[in-house]
Amino acid sequence: MKAIAVIPGTKESIHLREIEKPTLSEVPNGNGVLVRCLKVGVDATDKEIIEAYYGVAPEGDDFLVIGHECFGVVEEVGENVTDFQKGDFVTATVRRPGTSMYDVIGTNDMTSDDKYYERGICNLHGFLTEYFVEDAQYVVRVPKGIAKLHCLMEPMSVVAKAIWQMDEVQRRLKVWSPKVAFVMGAGQIGLLATLFLRLRGCEVYTIARSPGPNIKSEICEDYGATYVSTKETSVEDLIARVGRPDFILEATGSSKLAFDSLQYVGKNGCVVWTSLTVVDEMLEIPADRINQEWVLGNKVLVGSVNGNRSHFELGIKFLSLGETTYPGITEKVLTSPVKGFENYGELVRLLVEDKSALKVYLDISDL
Ligand SMILES: NC(=O)c1ccc[n+]([C@@H]2O[C@H](COP(=O)([O-])OP(=O)(O)OC[C@H]3O[C@@H](n4cnc5c(N)ncnc54)[C@H](OP(=O)(O)O)[C@@H]3O)[C@@H](O)[C@H]2O)c1
Repeated sequence: MKAIAVIPGTKESIHLREIEKPTLSEVPNGNGVLVRCLKVGVDATDKEIIEAYYGVAPEGDDFLVIGHECFGVVEEVGENVTDFQKGDFVTATVRRPGTSMYDVIGTNDMTSDDKYYERGICNLHGFLTEYFVEDAQYVVRVPKGIAKLHCLMEPMSVVAKAIWQMDEVQRRLKVWSPKVAFVMGAGQIGLLATLFLRLRGCEVYTIARSPGPNIKSEICEDYGATYVSTKETSVEDLIARVGRPDFILEATGSSKLAFDSLQYVGKNGCVVWTSLTVVDEMLEIPADRINQEWVLGNKVLVGSVNGNRSHFELGIKFLSLGETTYPGITEKVLTSPVKGFENYGELVRLLVEDKSALKVYLDISDL
């Protein structure tokens, strides 16, 4: 079967190759689920893998099949699988357990192992292929009513984990109920975070560079949030108008914005960083002022990566609620389909060059 792969560490090595179709026997104890891929998204991590900053091939192979944002349909299940049947729409989590205590208790998204296992990223092949087999415990059902949002399940799991982390940490306050939230970045993560926080009842300001109106500002406003372009309004001016936020979810890919966020959040507030940054940027920051304000204001900073099964399930619930509250809006994030495995060059071009592309994905088959 066809698969899109790279030779990790080698630039411009992305290629189409033939690999063996997997079988249920690869998963022990009759717990396998065979999934036919319908849509597979690509994101900034795939871009970094393609550009050879990131990515590790599975042991014994010199190539890595990329793609970690999958959506497909169940074709076959092992004899002990009771949760899924042929025809179900599903997605799959990305990380698989390692050896740390966190992996052992089922929270492999919190692994403390240095070597970790992520499908399509590190040490395991990904989903940009025709079929995959997975243990049922890592497969997550997608309701038919939101099948049209297909490859957004994984990005939404990242958002769900980040906001769940916020809630976990802020339980320390006994009466945590965030009113004003800033979302830094209006890419796929920023827009899905905007949706999630609007559904939580927050007044949301989503901050990016490009002046509106554009597709990002339109989606934000359709969700009832306020889009702010830093080319038109500085964050300082925004704060002078609306006050300091209780919560900031940072998703710009810019470490400067991540550190700036520390100066913006209000007392008892929480900042969650999700951006992955690959360059060694040096910054000058007002360290004394931040230190003083953070101590006197009891503020919290959390880093958040990946998501486990519970975060996928939570994200799917919020995408479903999003469809009933703001019908037809979230699918606007799915801007850039590419048909045909042989068109992987176009997939890369859109991912790297098209600044208006919110979600680039391989459109393998109709729903
Ligand atoms: N933690 C995790 O598990 C996880 C998972 C997935 C992704 N990520 C990371 O999350 C980040 C966001 O991902 P994404 O796919 O949403 O990225 P994206 O599509 O590149 O979107 C980035 C957004 O940030 C805005 N931005 C960038 N620099 C800015 C600046 N200096 N000032 C104001 N706005 C700025 C951009 O503004 P314009 O729209 O105006 O260009 C854009 O709206 C990336 O770093 C990605 O690697 C992390």
